[in-house]
Parts: sequence; structure tokens; C-alpha cells
Amino acid sequence: SGLHAIASAATAGSGGVAEAGTALTILYGSQSGNAEALSKELRKYAKTQGFEATVASLDDLQVADLSAINHLLIVAATFGEGEPTDNAAKFYTALMDDTAPELPASLNFSILGLGDSSYADFNKAASDIDRRLGELGATRAADAVLCDVDFDDDFAAWRDATFSSDLFKSAAGAALPPEPVAAGPAFDKNHPFMATLSVAQRLSGAASAKSVNHIELSLAGGGEDLSYDVGDALGVWPINCRKEVQEVLIATGFSGKETVMLKTGPTPLRAALLTRLNLQTVTPKTLEAWGVEKNGEDDQIIDLLQAGAVSDPQRLVEGMRALQPRLYSISSSPKTHPGEVHLTVGEVRYNLHGSDRKGVASTYLGERLVEGGSVGVYVQKSSHFHIPADDTVPLIMIGPGTGIAPFRAFLEEREARGAEGRNWLFFGDQHEECDYLYREQIETWLKDGVLDKLSLAWSRDSAEKVYVQTLLKRDAQEVFDWLENGAAIYICGDANRMAADVDRALREIIMQQGGKSEFEAATYMETLAASHRYQRDVY
Ligand code: 2AM
Repeated sequence: SGLHAIASAATAGSGGVAEAGTALTILYGSQSGNAEALSKELRKYAKTQGFEATVASLDDLQVADLSAINHLLIVAATFGEGEPTDNAAKFYTALMDDTAPELPASLNFSILGLGDSSYADFNKAASDIDRRLGELGATRAADAVLCDVDFDDDFAAWRDATFSSDLFKSAAGAALPPEPVAAGPAFDKNHPFMATLSVAQRLSGAASAKSVNHIELSLAGGGEDLSYDVGDALGVWPINCRKEVQEVLIATGFSGKETVMLKTGPTPLRAALLTRLNLQTVTPKTLEAWGVEKNGEDDQIIDLLQAGAVSDPQRLVEGMRALQPRLYSISSSPKTHPGEVHLTVGEVRYNLHGSDRKGVASTYLGERLVEGGSVGVYVQKSSHFHIPADDTVPLIMIGPGTGIAPFRAFLEEREARGAEGRNWLFFGDQHEECDYLYREQIETWLKDGVLDKLSLAWSRDSAEKVYVQTLLKRDAQEVFDWLENGAAIYICGDANRMAADVDRALREIIMQQGGKSEFEAATYMETLAASHRYQRDVY
């Protein structure tokens, strides 16, 4: 197992400088893939510093395994309300527990946290892990760095500080030159590919409370660097709405022609506001730079600006966070749609203090980007959300609302592969009439036998609320049979309510149908997760 490989790799190197470099363990807690991607980048860099690194998720390791490690780096994201990510939760709980073992001083560690200061409990997971490792006796080689959304510069600073720390420098083996970079463009977050919008089509009906769009992007010209697998996400660089830029200019009285200094160099203010800065989120940095206080908990940038406060363009941009790409679960299979990538995007719209507000990326794709126009994208590989390589494994897929996205991709992929394994889809939303996304395709799959079973939960079509977990429980016996027959279970969508309730429903089904105690059901679920038969893409 992965766990075994890591534990033994860690021990193998503990004798000191191995031929290939000093052993280093890099662990990540990653939800959307950023921490994982940074960990892999870190491994390459470590090689140039004389370290041979093993990369794994925090949950691939037991706390007891830490004692055998001499050099440990952790990249941990904080998710939801100050929580560790799904693939770090077990490790985190065990580490925080009173029964966690003492750690040797020979364990030299440093932590990078990925967080968001617009939430309470900023970087809680990383700071807790950092504090606790110290408490248990391990040695901090370099101070933790806690990133605030925009992590690139902080990552580089932390990496350099860590590898030049005494404890890392003195242990380093022979440094190897950087791995040669493959010729041609490699597209990533900071070097996006300009894809062309070929289709933007409303999926939800006029009567729906939501507007969900089907987006097709052409990757022509991107070649191998944009290859993706089902389960991966697409990073999309949005552009702000001109109307909102205008609102900021009006509120501040600036013309937009003023020059401001960004990390990338001098830029006219209007261009900076349009393409570089987040025009919504208030962070502690905003309040500090502008010397203001919030009026209400959910104040946005424009509320603070309308209340006065900023008289200098440079101060204005210093209080704003950099615009970030938004990640969407890919909803197509590359086998079915070569050279294309599809997304299923729910437009985010809401009303705040009587004025209409909207999500930047979702409305950019759905309304501001025109067909034939181009948008910066990159593929974010996922290692925690993947279809089994074995086509005979039965799949249970639970994805209400836009949670359908990766499962449309899975089903296209299974169809293209001619996979023998059975497929069961749970989908739903408010109303069948206007919220049944991809209805035709799903009905065709059912007719053709690509889908063996379809359970549709419409929450507002009857007096009683029917949710996906209602239907899971209604079919408890069959769900348990599928699991006992090797099925893998996938959940995509809302993390706070839906995914938590579905998780609970699954536990109940396993207890009831398997005659198991609560503890045994938890173990059953853990075993599923450890063998990659319980995977979640939740947000
Ligand atoms: P509701 O809004 O009618 O209560 C997509 O948002 C769908 O998820 C809607 O049908 C919504 O139902 C439903 N939903 C809301 N809370 C849920 C929960 N805890 N579990 C599952 N589905 C939920």
C-alpha cells in the first residue's frame, strides 16, 4: 500500500545521506489540488538541494510513522470552517488527540499553510499541526508560513527559507541539477492556455431558481500539455465585470488612467481592476491598508469604498487581493470530445444590502465571454477523484445540481471504454421540469444500458422533500449489495449540507444492512476510503 511504501521510504533514508540524496518526506492536505501540486513542485526543487523526496497525503501516514522521519515538510490547506481537508482529517485528529505519541527531536519539520483570510479560523489546520508537532517534541527547522489565497510568492519564500535553514542545509546530500524542462509551452496556473469558447448554452429551464450553463472550450493548439483525465478540474482565469470596475472608479473618484504598481509591474488602474484584482472580498489586509472598519459581517469592497476612505490609487490596490482562477470539475471525457473540455457552471448571483452581486468566474463564462472569445485555462490534475482503472468496478455516483459535472465525464468515459461495470447515478435538484441537467443524454444512457440505475431526487415537486440521501436510504439494501460487490462510491457537490448528510446516510445503511455497530460502520467506510472506493469532490 501507499502507506507502507512511504513509511519504508522514510525509514530507508533515516541513516543519513543516501546516494540519491537525503530522504525527505513531503505530506499534503489538499482539497482542490493546490497543496498537492505545490508538494510535487517541492519534490523537484528538493532534488536540486540534495534531497530525495517522497510525496503523499497526510492521511497516507500514521502519526506513529513520523518518528522514523528526519526531514518533513507539510503543505496543508484549511477547508470549510477551519477544517483540515478530506485527505488530512484522519491524521489531524490523531495528531491532536491526547494519546498522540511523543516525537523525537530528530524530526525536523516546516509547514506551509494554504488558507483564506476572508474566513474565520484562517489557516487553522496548518497552524494547529505546526503547534502540535512542536509540542510533541519535533524540531521546527523553519517557521511556518501561512498563505492567504495567493500563494506563489509565499511558497517560494518559505521553500527558500526552509532549505537554507541550518537543519536542512547541514543534512543535504549531493545536489542534482534541475530536471530539464520539456520543450514547448507547459500550461499551468501562471502560464494559462488561451482556450476558445465554442459553446455556452443554458441548461436549466426558465422556471428554475438557478441558471446553469453548459460550457464547451476548444483546446486546439494546446497539445499534450492540456491533456486531462475525467475527475480533473479546469482552472479558469476570469475577467471582472466592467460595470463593477466602473462602480469602483465612481466610488473612489479615480479616472482609471492612474498608474498603479502591481507585482507584475506598472499598470493602468482600470486594467488592473478589470483583470488583476478581486473586487469583492474584504480581508484583514483591506481594513489595514485603507484604515477602515467593517460595517457589517458581509461587507464587500464596494461597500467600504462607498463609505469613503481611499484617496490614493496605490492604497486602493494594496487593499485588494489578487484575482484568482476558479476551479471547475470537468464534465467531459477526452475520449468522447477530443480537443475539447466541457464545464457545467452554475451562475452565482445573490443580493446583498439591496444590490445585486454576482460570482466573477461563473458569470464571466456564462454572460461576458462571447462565443469565439478566448479565456485563460489550465488543467488541475486530481489524484483523489478518479474513475477506477478497472472497468469492471461498479460505480455509485451521487451528484445533485452541478455536482453532476464529473459524473457526466465518468459516464462518457465508461461508455467510450465500453466498460462492463455497472453504473448507478443519483441526481436531483428542486424541480424535474427545469432542473434536470443533461436530461436527454442521461435518458439515452439509461435506454442504452450505460446507466444501470438512475435515482432522481426532486426536492420541491412533492409535499415531502426528496433528497439524494432519501433515495439512497430507500434503496438501502441494493446500495449495500453494490458495496459488498466491490462498488466504488463517489460524491460531488455541496460540502456543508449534502455531502455530510449523504455520508451519514451511508453509515446508517451500512449499520442497518450489514448489522454493524457505529464503530464497525466507520471502519467499513475508512476501508472503502483507503482503497479509493469512497471519493469526494465537494466544495
Ligand atoms: P431544497 O433547496 O429544495 O431544500 C440542489 O441545491 C438541491 O439540493 C436542491 O434540491 C436542494 O433542496 C437540495 N438540498 C438542500 N439541502 C440538502 C441536503 N442537506 N442534502 C441533500 N440535498 C439538499
